Amino acid sequence: MTRTAKHHAIPALVDVKQGLVGRELFVNEELYQQEQEQLFAHCWLFVGHESQIPKPGDYFVSGMGEESVLLTRDREQRIHVFLNTCRHRGMKVCRYDEGNTPVFTCPYHGWSYATDGQLVGVPYFRECYGEQLDKAEWGLVEVPRLGAHRSNCRAEPARLLRVLGRVHGRGGHGSQKREAQR
Ligand code: FES
Repeated sequence: MTRTAKHHAIPALVDVKQGLVGRELFVNEELYQQEQEQLFAHCWLFVGHESQIPKPGDYFVSGMGEESVLLTRDREQRIHVFLNTCRHRGMKVCRYDEGNTPVFTCPYHGWSYATDGQLVGVPYFRECYGEQLDKAEWGLVEVPRLGAHRSNCRAEPARLLRVLGRVHGRGGHGSQKREAQR
C-alpha cells in the first residue's frame, strides 16, 4: 500500500455521525506504524502526573510510543524523564512499575544510576576500565523536552484534532512537526 493510499484509508474507517470505527483501526500494522511515526514521534506525550512521584526517590515507569521511560524525582526535587535503557548494553534499568529508590541498578552487569540520571556505580571500575571511563558522559538519556501541562481541558481537544487532521493527510509532514513542537 502506498503512503497516499494509507492516508486515504483512515477516514473511510471512521463514521463520525454514527460514532463508529472500523475494527481494522485496532489491528492494522501499517496504520499502527503510521500512528507511531506521525503522532507519537512528533507530539507532546503524557507520561504521568507529578502527584505520582511526590517524594525524592519516587519513580514510576511510563511509555512514549514504544519506548519505556522512567519518570523520577531526584534528591533536589527535580523531575526527570529518562529512557529506561542502560548505557552499557541496553538492558532495561528498572524492571518495576513504581517505587522509591536512591539508585537504579541494572540487573545485567550492575551499573547503577542516581535518580538524576548520573552514572554513579560501575562494578570492577578499576579492573575493567582502568578508571578511564568518564562516568559523567554515561548517564541515563533524558528526553529533550519536558513540560508541566496546565490547561483548560475544554480548549485542548481542538488542538489535538488539528494534529490528528494532519495524520489523516490534510497537512504535510513538516507542518505537523512544527505544530507538535509549539
Ligand atoms: S547492560 Fe546494564 S550493566 Fe550491562
